[in-house]
Parts: sequence; C-alpha cells; structure tokens
Amino acid sequence: MKTMATPKSASSFVPSTATMRAIAVLPGQPGTAHLRQVPRPQLNEIPNGRGVLVRVLRVGVDGTDKEINAAEYGQAPPGDDYLIIGHEGFGRVEAVGPEVTELAVGDYVVATVRRPGTSLYDIIGTNDMTTDETYFERGINLRHGYLAEYYVEDVEFVVKVPSGLREIGVLLEPLTVVEKGIAQAYEIQRRLRVWHPRRAAVMGAGTIGLLAAMALRLRGLDVTVFGLRQKPYRNAELLEAIGARYISTKDTPIPEAAKEFGPWDIMFEATGNSFVVFESMQVLGKNGVLVLSSVTGGDNRIEIPADRINLQFVLGNKVMVGTVNANREYFETGVKDMAQCEAQFAGWMERLLTHPVKGIENVEELFRTLTTARDAIKVYCDIAPV
Ligand SMILES: NC(=O)c1ccc[n+]([C@@H]2O[C@H](COP(=O)([O-])OP(=O)(O)OC[C@H]3O[C@@H](n4cnc5c(N)ncnc54)[C@H](OP(=O)(O)O)[C@@H]3O)[C@@H](O)[C@H]2O)c1
Repeated sequence: MKTMATPKSASSFVPSTATMRAIAVLPGQPGTAHLRQVPRPQLNEIPNGRGVLVRVLRVGVDGTDKEINAAEYGQAPPGDDYLIIGHEGFGRVEAVGPEVTELAVGDYVVATVRRPGTSLYDIIGTNDMTTDETYFERGINLRHGYLAEYYVEDVEFVVKVPSGLREIGVLLEPLTVVEKGIAQAYEIQRRLRVWHPRRAAVMGAGTIGLLAAMALRLRGLDVTVFGLRQKPYRNAELLEAIGARYISTKDTPIPEAAKEFGPWDIMFEATGNSFVVFESMQVLGKNGVLVLSSVTGGDNRIEIPADRINLQFVLGNKVMVGTVNANREYFETGVKDMAQCEAQFAGWMERLLTHPVKGIENVEELFRTLTTARDAIKVYCDIAPV
C-alpha cells in the first residue's frame, strides 16, 4: 500500500497494487477481444499532480471497435502486447491529484480520445488536426482505452458532464464528431461575410446522422435526413420527434428531394458510402458547405459526371470539408448541445441508447450485439451503476 500527497481538493485513497478488469485485443490477431486482469492505473502516473482517476461507468462501442477486433486497425501501447479498447467512455471521478482544481471527486466526466503528437497542430493543442502519420488515440492506437474499470488521465483531457446529463453522457464522444464538423462548417462560412443557413441535409440516419440532425435542429435549421430504409422506421420517428424530415432514397431519390426541400446551405454526410458524397456534391446549394465524415476503408470505384460536378462547384462557390476526431472544445460544445436537447426535446437522446450490455465480463455478448443488431443505434457496456 502506498500513500499519496494530500490533494487540495477532496481525494480518495486507492491501493497501488490492485488490478482491474478490462476488455482488450491482441493487435494483429483477428477476433481476440477478451476480458483480462490488468494493473489498475495510479493517479501518480500523471505528472505535475494533474491526474484524474476515473471509475468507468459506461462505454459505447462502434464500427471502429469492430475494425480493431478484426485486426484491421490498432496497435498496443509500447511495452504491452495487448490494447485495452473503448474510446466512448463515461465515468465518475474517484480521485484527483493535488494540482487539479477543475474537477472534484464525484464529478461525471468524459475523456477525449486523441493525444498530442509532434506536428504544429499538436503543439498548439489542436491534436484533432494533426498532420502526423501516427495517431495516439485512447482505445484505438498506441494508448489504452476506457473499456476497463478505471483509467487515469491528465485533467487537460477530461471534460465535466453535469450530473443531470449522466444518463446520456456515454453519447458525448460520438456527438463530438458532429460538433466538430458543424463548427468547422460555420467557421469556413465566415468567408461569406454574411451566412444565414436555413436548410440542411444529413446523409445517413444512423448514430452519427441522428446526432447531426439534432445539432442542426438546435441551430434552427430545416433538416432533411436521408437513409435507405423505408417507413415505418424507428429512426424516422426519432427524427420527426425533433422536427426533422426523414426520406428513404428508395421512395425519393436525392435529386428529386433536393428540388422540393433544397437548396441545402449545409450538408453533413454520414452514410459510410462514398458514392453518396458525389450525389451530395450535385445537390449542395450555391455558397453551400458539405461536411464529410464517413470513414470508407474500401476501394470502391464509380463513374461520376465529373465535369458537371466540378462546374457546379466552381460556379456556385461551394466548399467540401473532411472532419475526423474531436478536440476538447467540441466536447464542451457537445455538453451544451446535450443540455439544450434535454431542455427542448426531453428524453430524446436517451432513446438512442438502444442496446445496453450489462457487465464488463460479457465481452462476447457485447461484440455479438455490435455486429448483429441491425436496429441498434448505440450499443454500450454498462460497467457500473450510473
Ligand atoms: N469522422 C469521424 O471522426 C467519424 C467518427 C465516427 C464515425 N464516423 C463515420 O460516420 C459514418 C456513419 O456512422 P454511423 O455509426 O452513423 O453509421 P450507421 O449507423 O451504419 O449509419 C449509416 C446510415 O447511412 C444510411 N445509408 C447507407 N448507405 C446509404 C445510401 N446509399 N443512401 C442513403 N443512406 C445510406 C444507412 O441507412 P440504412 O440503415 O437504412 O441502411 C444508415 O442510416 C461511418 O462511415 C463512420 O465510419 C466517422
């Protein structure tokens, strides 16, 4: 047993020799997600007394976790042959270092994912814009993740979630992808001196598409969301509950819907299908901005009307921007949007938490649900009571 310096704010004592349970993979070997006993992280691993020890309560899983378990991605941290997965964490502060003033024991928190590399963007604190080839991402690459009973982190990367949002806190990380994309779009549109977007289109009605629709509705836009499935469809009902419009492309092709509900000032692409990007480019309004978020790992080739798309983009002063990962500021905006969503559409975000898996020991059920539940919006592991 080891004692630590008494922190300025309240802290609790944690035995240094303890171990904990975590879900890990063996990078490079497909299908190795397993429960293992690992050393419990210690507050003093973080320098300058700025550590935060977090008891993990819930962790969401997504396509990236599927890819990591399929050994398509992900490396172990130096010195280990396993990688603790999980990047969509939600937890409660169990102890803080002596120099932490921003958080206290009992606070609910979410930690960001990417850690600084070496590029100029990393040095100025915008790790999400790194130009480095190697990413350091908790639960994804070279850094252990949050699918464990505890983690420690520098307070710089830990964001407070008000306790009134604790039931939906696990949705913050996926929401930040959307927050970054929208914030970047608005930033880019400052080029226009005056930009009052009125109509938005979201391509895809999955987890990211639903969250994008919500964030755009909160900004007062008329929102049209496209998906493949035809109504009646639970996600269409969810969208209509926040005043968005759902269109199945099987009923109405995108160009036809654009005539009725466009022109779109902002479009957010989140289908996972790169073909939809080129369809979107053709219906984006003049001076409009198209945000791309789909991570498309394949090698699909398609034929497109290249001259026409290029001409419309040039003559219409249009912009297209890619977006990945998110920095602390987008986590903070995400918290604000969650609070506004609760105030405006109470209980709506909780309806996205469709597939809980109880207990960190249920690794197989977690991955089975992630890979087979066609109707899942968010699959997550309930590790400890919220
Ligand atoms: N940039 C980042 O940092 C980041 C982070 C997380 C995720 N992502 C990416 O975001 C994308 C969306 O993620 P997600 O979790 O929301 O995925 P998802 O749950 O699979 O949702 C995809 C949605 O797109 C719809 N769709 C697929 N093909 C379509 C088409 N041809 N036309 C119209 N709609 C189509 C699907 O419709 P049906 O359900 O009806 O088939 C579904 O509504 C993924 O590509 C993921 O890799 C990016």
